[in-house]
Amino acid sequence: MAGSALAGRREHGGTRSPFVRLTELLAGLEPSKPLINLSVGEPRHPMPDFVAPVIAANVNGFAKYPMLRGTDRFRTAAANWLGRRYRLPRAIDPNKEVVVLNGSREGLFLAGVAAKRLLGERAGKPAIIVPNPFYPAYGAGAEVAGCELVALPALRENNFIPDYDAVPDELLARTVAIYLCSPANPQGSVLPRETLSSVIARAREAGAYVFADECYSEIWLGDKKPVGALEACGASFDNVVAFNSLSKRSNLPGLRCGFAAGDAKFIAAYADLRNVCAPQVPEPLQEVAVTAYGDEHHVEDTRKLYREKFDLADKLLGAHFGHKRPEGGFFLWLDVTSLGDDEAATKTLFTEAGLRVVPGSYLAREGSDGKNPGAGYIRVALVDDLRTTEEALTRLASFGK
Ligand SMILES: Cc1ncc(COP(=O)(O)O)c(C=O)c1O
Repeated sequence: MAGSALAGRREHGGTRSPFVRLTELLAGLEPSKPLINLSVGEPRHPMPDFVAPVIAANVNGFAKYPMLRGTDRFRTAAANWLGRRYRLPRAIDPNKEVVVLNGSREGLFLAGVAAKRLLGERAGKPAIIVPNPFYPAYGAGAEVAGCELVALPALRENNFIPDYDAVPDELLARTVAIYLCSPANPQGSVLPRETLSSVIARAREAGAYVFADECYSEIWLGDKKPVGALEACGASFDNVVAFNSLSKRSNLPGLRCGFAAGDAKFIAAYADLRNVCAPQVPEPLQEVAVTAYGDEHHVEDTRKLYREKFDLADKLLGAHFGHKRPEGGFFLWLDVTSLGDDEAATKTLFTEAGLRVVPGSYLAREGSDGKNPGAGYIRVALVDDLRTTEEALTRLASFGK
């Protein structure tokens, strides 16, 4: 952990980059086999063929500042995609209920800040509720908004779904926002419709927002599409905002394009804040997004490839490391306590197997019970091609048996 002024400062509550911490952990170590990087959730599948021609046809758009909310064409494409993908109570209004994002990460971060700004005083110290483990941008938003971060453990015994019913009314009354992640990074659990509906109902009653991070929505590994928050919210989108992006759906993490959609009052306040500080999305890239949202073939190919990789994981790992095929997403979440703690296991896998994985405790924070629900786990991103994935899984399977 040496080498950084922030080294060891876990009081950042799990919001320090896990990848920076991983680099610190592995500094000075050498892999004994050709390295396979399974740490970053960056899809390495081929990107769709249409990207270059669409950019070329719209290249003049780089000559102007993009409008913050996104082009009409982008917002309409996103709203139409939502209408095809989910059973919505009514069509999304592209003018009032959608805003383009420079990838969902910045959007998720700024959402907490905007919600706090919009809601003002709460009944007590303002709080933001997240699942634990959680995507660090949620925590960074809470920190900047001056909110207490309340992290609800997502444990194996609860199918990696936090116990939202146990959140006390007193906490909800001072809550600004509840972040949900489905399919979840890292465990791949999918929130059932009833859970979504009941969290939304309670948040509404308390005047809090629900921010649904759905960037893995298109990578489902069974036969059921994950339910979205916008289709589990009853007759209106009040208090609910869904976040999605093309990074995982279309293998375009470098495009930096996604959207937030839902509650019109929130979207207006969010756009107000965003107008003075958020990164815009260049118009030629929004045109790529319009084409991407209009095509499902490349998404089906992507899903097929992930399924083949999880078939391999099922075959090669069986139940080793507690492996169980997740419902969605592209991560393995493995119990490596047979190799020591998660940092020790990460070092062993790096030096002896040439595998770079993320210690689970880096993706979570200590809960009020003093336990880090990621401790003892590693996260393995199945983002490479089939051959590389097979090699990585074969090496992994030979450990700790
Ligand atoms: C859970 C989750 N949310 C959001 C993001 C942000 O993705 P992007 O900014 O590329 O849309 C990621 C990226 O890894 C993620 O894993």
